Amino acid sequence: MLTHRSRPIGIFDSGVGGLTVASALRRLAPNETLIYLADAARLPYGTKSPQTVTRYALQAAKYLQSLDVKMLVIACNTASAHAVGAVRKAAAPLPVLGVVEAGAKAAAQATLTGNVVVAATEGACQTGVFPKLINAARSQTSVTQVPCPLFVALAEEGLGDSSIADAMARDYLGAHFGPQSQNDTLLLGCTHFPLLAPSLRRIIGPGPNMVDCAEAVAQQVVAALNAHDLIADASTVGALHLFATDAQSRLSKLAAKLMPDLGPTPAVTLIDL
Ligand code: DGL
Repeated sequence: MLTHRSRPIGIFDSGVGGLTVASALRRLAPNETLIYLADAARLPYGTKSPQTVTRYALQAAKYLQSLDVKMLVIACNTASAHAVGAVRKAAAPLPVLGVVEAGAKAAAQATLTGNVVVAATEGACQTGVFPKLINAARSQTSVTQVPCPLFVALAEEGLGDSSIADAMARDYLGAHFGPQSQNDTLLLGCTHFPLLAPSLRRIIGPGPNMVDCAEAVAQQVVAALNAHDLIADASTVGALHLFATDAQSRLSKLAAKLMPDLGPTPAVTLIDL
């Protein structure tokens, strides 16, 4: 029987992107056991309606709850933007953290000029949640949202650091940065996008802050575990269990790349939601 502190943390995303959250969390909280669910059969979420994404998010959350998790992390900005309220209501009293809130807060803290560019999916941008939350954290901030839907496919294909990613990044974001621009911060408002960080850095240049929503939410998870007295024992060796609704080998490959200690081919369990 697991004590309430040794229970796992449930994390989900539409695909491999949320592994950036799992990986950041393993670095910050190595004693925690994580269960990661990639709903790859229904990827991308970023082009789907709020109703559909909410339904998918509720199903993913329910599945993770059936595995007796102590906390849920929505490691998808799109699902957080559409469905964090619905998931919180359905999962109560389980603590639920959304990556959007963490990323927006980190971007508000990072900007000096008050001019922030948010790269995200179409669906997340349409909700208007980024300007709303960034302005709530730092008033009079100018937020430019740039939908970058093709970045998701590049990240899924493992092409985040490539000439094709450079070209796409230039096309989407090149005009928003440069010597004439007041923008000093780029928020990666999709958990797939940190996988494109090398290409993005080449395009925006060395000056601007690049805020990684995955790092930001990992820090909030640790704070929330402390606040709820849910930190795993220091003697526990944390594990990562991977689940996917499709494309297991893709998830396994990226997990091995981001977290080499998992071995060359971490096991992925195929499930249906
Ligand atoms: N990784 C997801 C996000 O953070 C979405 C990618 C997608 O499925 O479109 O928004």
